[in-house]
Amino acid sequence: MNNYSEKFNKMRVAGKLAAQCLDMITDYINPGITTDKIDKLCYEFIRDNGGYSAPLFYRGFEKSLCTSLNHVICHGIPSERELEESDILNIDVTAIVDGYYGDTSRMFSVGEISVKAKNLINATYESLMKGIQILKPGIKLGDIGYEIQSLVEPKGFSVVRDFCGHGISNTFHEPPNVLHYGKKNTGAELQPGMTFTIEPMINYGKYETKVLNDGWTAVTKDKSLSAQFEHTVGITENGYEIFTESVKGYRKPPYNK
Ligand code: MF3
Ligand code: CO
Ligand code: CO
Repeated sequence: MNNYSEKFNKMRVAGKLAAQCLDMITDYINPGITTDKIDKLCYEFIRDNGGYSAPLFYRGFEKSLCTSLNHVICHGIPSERELEESDILNIDVTAIVDGYYGDTSRMFSVGEISVKAKNLINATYESLMKGIQILKPGIKLGDIGYEIQSLVEPKGFSVVRDFCGHGISNTFHEPPNVLHYGKKNTGAELQPGMTFTIEPMINYGKYETKVLNDGWTAVTKDKSLSAQFEHTVGITENGYEIFTESVKGYRKPPYNK
């Protein structure tokens, strides 16, 4: 036992529900489904399993999750838009259970996608996992950003600067900011008991962003494709724990369909 085991127990429950929600929606990701329908199914799944969808009414956001398609980087708003063959899509779910938050997102592919899109998705997933694998007390926040940046930039992709990961526990967004670019051995030192997200947004082209008139939807300024994966993690005495691991073993698309 330690002074954060109660917090970790609750983070585990919330994280698992968010991950199970993404597992659940995977079979529905086919041409013709609207992003509103995805929103509704996930809202009901979380509610029916004892949770609440954190994005709903968060700072005026009117849906229960984010659906970010193609050149949308993050915070895409579910709508009547139907998924189409060759779309790539990020679904970002945050569940609150017993006052604690689990925040996770994955990419999905609709039918057959371009080689370009596959390469971007694979690199983004690898960069998240590379950022996670080094986690332990004593390393610095900048080390995480360094790992992510040094994996994707040699492939010609760019790391979004305008959005970052965040501390998370019994509030949705709390310090520290977790940047997805950076220099080794810079920034705050990780301590046992810390809980935060890592959620790299990687663009096929340049990293500049633009927010649409709806006040939320963030897109690539050059209209290039963007991908993102997100996990909520905790720092333990010797390493880390991922709270939002898929229960079905889903990591990146295609999800053995
Ligand atoms: N889930 C997002 C994150 O990873 C936040 C979404 S806030 C919303 O931090 F209001 F846009 F839903
Ligand atoms: Co987040
Ligand atoms: Co999220």
